[in-house]
Amino acid sequence: MPTFELSSASATEASADLLILPVFQGRELGPGVAEVQRALRADLTKVLEDHRFKGKVGEILQVPLLGRLKAKSLLFVGVGPKKDAGATEVRRASFKAARAAAKFATVASTLPQVGSSYDESAQAFAEGIALGSYRFDRYKEAPIDEASKEKVRLKRVTALDGREPRGSKAALRRGRIYAEAANWARDMVNMPAIDATPEFLASEAKGMADREGLECRIWSTNDLKQGGFGGILGVGSGSINEPRLIELTYRGAGNEAPIAVTGKGVTFDSGGLSLKDAAGMEWMKADMGGAAATLAAMQAVAQLKPRVNVIAAIPSSENMPGGSAIRPGDVLRHRGGKTSEVLNTDAEGRLILADALAYLSEKKPRVIIDSATLTGAAMVALGTDIWVVIGSDDGLVQDLLSAGRAEGEPGWQLPLWTDYRKNIESTVADVKNTGGRWGGAINAALFLKEFVGNVPWAHLDVAGTAFVEQNGEYWPRGATGSPARTLIRYIESQGQGEATTAKPPAARGARR
Ligand code: BES
Ligand code: ZN
Ligand code: MN
Repeated sequence: MPTFELSSASATEASADLLILPVFQGRELGPGVAEVQRALRADLTKVLEDHRFKGKVGEILQVPLLGRLKAKSLLFVGVGPKKDAGATEVRRASFKAARAAAKFATVASTLPQVGSSYDESAQAFAEGIALGSYRFDRYKEAPIDEASKEKVRLKRVTALDGREPRGSKAALRRGRIYAEAANWARDMVNMPAIDATPEFLASEAKGMADREGLECRIWSTNDLKQGGFGGILGVGSGSINEPRLIELTYRGAGNEAPIAVTGKGVTFDSGGLSLKDAAGMEWMKADMGGAAATLAAMQAVAQLKPRVNVIAAIPSSENMPGGSAIRPGDVLRHRGGKTSEVLNTDAEGRLILADALAYLSEKKPRVIIDSATLTGAAMVALGTDIWVVIGSDDGLVQDLLSAGRAEGEPGWQLPLWTDYRKNIESTVADVKNTGGRWGGAINAALFLKEFVGNVPWAHLDVAGTAFVEQNGEYWPRGATGSPARTLIRYIESQGQGEATTAKPPAARGARR
């Protein structure tokens, strides 16, 4: 992760190897470009024209400076039409620029000056650069930098603030915190399941909690048995890697009811005895994307310290077909006593989430949010750009949708269509874990709903967005960290506004 700093230097004064300059659609020059043009005594509009540069969001053009400025190179980046350019465009442009700029050690940019809210743009700039310079190379024989000598990893990023210092360091810091959290989630998701076991996720969580000052309890197999967590245990029973439940608590608002979060942490989904085929299994190391995003959100919350309480209970099991695996027809008893009939061991996410949701609802939270790579059906419905949200509380759903929009992690609502409850009726248990072929994402949500009691609840199905096979408009190839930034934004938004009776977080001796 590079360091981020503010500078009131102008674009021509900035001392950085690479100068990133925004251009609006129609080749209208962005902040700082005219000044660079004067210093170079060159017609940059002509340069853009010659290279057919249009200024579309994320479009890039690199121009070597041949020693005519402090910087070695200019990187033009498109931010779209001037009237619409704001944080979203700045984030996407910064993201693309960072991927192109990875070989430079120091970069400076006027991108934070685009748009009407400097702080939103500065945050988006830091976020985009930090997300775009992410690499997952720890499994290579040699890290990419050493292997190809000319490739220098980004070390320092300077936000050029314009003449009058409008920007705030806090905005850059927030952008870094959001991206750092998302990148941590990406690391966990990208890691192969041979290493990223439930125990590993638990140790990552514990390490983070100790560093950031969160309370942490790891429930091991025996604890789970005593606590009646039959879903987490059942799904994990076919694997030699034992399951865990990760409980994290953040206190920022005295004894107010907390926001409760959970995420599906299936470290590998073979399907169990209802075995997937080879193609269906290829990316199932990513089936803990919801858990990773939830852990990441807790890290960011610990750092940002909003005035709100948050509790996380994250279940993690490996779904394998070993000799002690659960079988189709088995009945599991979940935390709190409800039972489910397992007709397909590949519908395992809902089985572990059921326990976590029931446990969280005991805490009388104000809302519960779960994130899960739950159904192929969600992916079929909305593709890989957009997550699905289904919930029992429309205000909560709308808040999550707008948090996602603000973070450039878009979602879309599907209905909690209660007439489909009949699809998951069981003859032997309270509920069964499959609901037939149609409306798969909704059937899964209706199963989860059985375990939340009457707490307002929303479920994010991130099967399409947590891991993508190809570079796209919204996501790079591999783990995306989705929906970590959405969760952070949502939680932060709940911790602002009217002061509560709670002690401010600083009163706990917390660092700021
Ligand atoms: N982890 C999968 C869902 C998934 C599929 C995530 C593709 C990402 C990409 C989940 O556990 C699963 O297998 N769901 C089944 C449910 C069915 C058996 C009711 C599905 O969607 O096919
Ligand atoms: Zn799964
Ligand atoms: Mn499955």
